[in-house]
Amino acid sequence: MNKGFPKNFLWGGALAAHQCEGAYNEDGKGLCTADTLICGNPMERLFNISTEIKDGVYYPSHEAIDFYHRYKEDVKLFAEMGFKTLRTSIAWSRIFPNGDDETPNEKGLQFYDDLFDELLSYNIEPLITLSHYEMPLNLLNKYGAWENRKLIKFFETYAKTVFERYKDKVKYWMTFNEINVIKVMPYFGGGMILNYQEPDFLQKVYQAAHHQFVASSLAVKACHEIIPDGKIGMMMAGMLSYPKTCHPEDVLKNVEMERNSLFFSDVMMRGYYPAYINRYFDENNIDIKMEDGDIELLKKYTTDYLAFSYYMSSVTSADPEDNKMTGNFAMGISNPYLDTSEWGWQIDPTGLRVYLNQLYDRYQKPLFIVENGLGANDTVKEDGTIEDNYRIEYLKKHIEAMKEAVKDGVDLMGYTPWGCIDLVSASTGEMKKRYGFIYVDKDNYGNGTLKRGKKKSFDWYKKVIATNGEDLE
Ligand code: BG6
Repeated sequence: MNKGFPKNFLWGGALAAHQCEGAYNEDGKGLCTADTLICGNPMERLFNISTEIKDGVYYPSHEAIDFYHRYKEDVKLFAEMGFKTLRTSIAWSRIFPNGDDETPNEKGLQFYDDLFDELLSYNIEPLITLSHYEMPLNLLNKYGAWENRKLIKFFETYAKTVFERYKDKVKYWMTFNEINVIKVMPYFGGGMILNYQEPDFLQKVYQAAHHQFVASSLAVKACHEIIPDGKIGMMMAGMLSYPKTCHPEDVLKNVEMERNSLFFSDVMMRGYYPAYINRYFDENNIDIKMEDGDIELLKKYTTDYLAFSYYMSSVTSADPEDNKMTGNFAMGISNPYLDTSEWGWQIDPTGLRVYLNQLYDRYQKPLFIVENGLGANDTVKEDGTIEDNYRIEYLKKHIEAMKEAVKDGVDLMGYTPWGCIDLVSASTGEMKKRYGFIYVDKDNYGNGTLKRGKKKSFDWYKKVIATNGEDLE
């Protein structure tokens, strides 16, 4: 039996380009889909989208936390905590400003060279997502984003470019962030402006997903060819769900609910469309257009590991009245056994152990928790300290659950809590929904000095890493 975390366990933290970098139009960067998003409730931010940048409107990604200019200071703090890895993403639009450019933007490439060098100078392994909820805006305006098969080629060119450039610096890669959210948030997942009410919503979403599957397989192929000692994973939003009751109809509904997400990992980890999806496609008039060679590609180039985010669990009921979405994308049914965060997300550490076991039983390939954490509104005391005991408690319980899963036999590569430094919230654009060990002085409206400060959880996490997860007090 495994006694605890392996010696080479990758402790670290996670970020994404559009939520931390800022510098949205500097050094040749093109506009990306995330640059058009305002701060607001998720329905307003993610479904009422204008692709025009308007004067006088505040766009949180434009400056974000200015990581682009301050990364040295931030990386130094990550190193002080003892990070072994940092997950971030490359902004595709820094490398190919329009997505369909003939040649890459050298200044964009140089930025990531510098960032990776900085990380490596502290022995921090970069863990890189190729597309985290963004793509060059031009690919939406000109081609309709992932609905269009042409995106596969553009993505492949981009992936090959960064693999070639960073092959000696980056060994851990992921293709698309939370690939399974395309059905819930098509703008984040597929760069598409779509409303649930559109008659061909599902057709468009699954066709786009197919294009991403093929693009992902091509990226796996290229990564293995260019970086023989590299590993490339898929990444999905962990969506553990419980049946509301032990009534068989609730249990059946829950199986269907979980398959909504597991479909994506089934394709990318096993290399083929699972049998159960055929019935779903038939009943929803979905007809995926494939080209010769697609099936073989998916089969041959599956991903090396499964990375996922885990924040909460949900509850599924067979009664349609129960299954209404709330504004923050948490499921509407509350679980009487769990507490919720200030943003209504149901906190479930044991669910993490359940989920790790489920996924490992299903795929028997390494897993990586690349996001987990508590979004909370921190209070800065008069003396400047921040006592984020609630965050420590949340993380502690999740690490305990992870450790149990490792003892259960799960092959877990690492753990990178989300937003290790405060950054812009993806679902709301807020700054006050904070996840970090490091505080950033900025509010929801863009005011603040951007000064960094350590929270109580900073020293706590430092100790966790130093003891390889043994001392959680
Ligand atoms: C994940 C995303 O879904 O959740 C991140 O990959 C996001 O980009 C994180 O920031 C937390 O969500 P939010 O909405 O609180 O920022």
